[in-house]
Amino acid sequence: MKKITTALSALTLAFSVSTAFASECDPGEVVAKLSHVTGGTTHPKVVAANSLAERVNKEMNGKMCIEVFPSSTLFGDSKELEALLLGDVQILAPSLSKFGSYTRQFGVFDLPFIFKDMDAAIRFTNTDSGKELLNAMNNVGFVGLGYWMSGMKYFSANKALKLPTDAEGLKFRVQSSDVAKAMIAAMGGSPQPMAFKEVYGALQTGVVDGQENTWSNIYTKKFFEVQDSVTETSHQLLAYLFMTSSEFLDGLEPDVREQFLKISNEVTQAANENVKAKEQANRANILKAGGKINELTSEQRAAWVESMKPVWKKFESDIGADLIKSAAEA
Ligand code: LMR
Repeated sequence: MKKITTALSALTLAFSVSTAFASECDPGEVVAKLSHVTGGTTHPKVVAANSLAERVNKEMNGKMCIEVFPSSTLFGDSKELEALLLGDVQILAPSLSKFGSYTRQFGVFDLPFIFKDMDAAIRFTNTDSGKELLNAMNNVGFVGLGYWMSGMKYFSANKALKLPTDAEGLKFRVQSSDVAKAMIAAMGGSPQPMAFKEVYGALQTGVVDGQENTWSNIYTKKFFEVQDSVTETSHQLLAYLFMTSSEFLDGLEPDVREQFLKISNEVTQAANENVKAKEQANRANILKAGGKINELTSEQRAAWVESMKPVWKKFESDIGADLIKSAAEA
């Protein structure tokens, strides 16, 4: 197998060998670092990332090797996209809500209540519009390899949230998404954008009163321990762009690229098939660990949906009415 390409600089290699994962990769292989921010063993992104690494490292042994860096140990939210462009990391899976500086179109995934459930979101990503969005940032040098679903999101706070009016005056941590900020404002709350790794501490110390996330993040990062309860709003999707850079992908030998892309597709499909079960298991884990979950009546749910309607109008021209229609129809 060809020696490491120039895209993987000597500096990158030097850094790789100093990490705990380095022993798994042979210096003669193309080494790809996969960095992400989630943790635990049951989280859908952890499972997908590890399964990708396991398959590549076994089936492409001698040609390509992936080292996984979870829990923001290599790069956190604010630096990872820049690091990908600089060639300091080769594979990422950031939340679709974190691309606002590169494309407005991804805002469609954040519109509250646009997807009834994850199946609707998967249907949308399989439409032509959904597939085209994978290429929305090719001009920047980002290549979307697929969507990794994570789950629907739920609000938690230091008091029980039954109606959107219960959120009035509370501070909520949000991802760096303008749609998420507008959504919190529509509830009468105050949005506080913050990196994922800071959320637990911010909830614990009262820097923020609440947050919104999936069962898997709420369980694996123990947010439920420092919140009164979680409300089953299912108001938004959390999904990831499994991605690389065109510099990395174009630098691979054609046969290596083809095999990597084939494994990537298969891992993506398998991950999305199993994600609902993982989310439900982590919901049960929260209850088992003493966390409290508030279920909503249909009247209460209708009040949440109503309160967020103005958000759609606000972003229609940025995102594109056709794209919103296509997602809503899914
Ligand atoms: C968050 O910042 O809340 C999530 O995007 C973290 C993640 O990657 O699941």
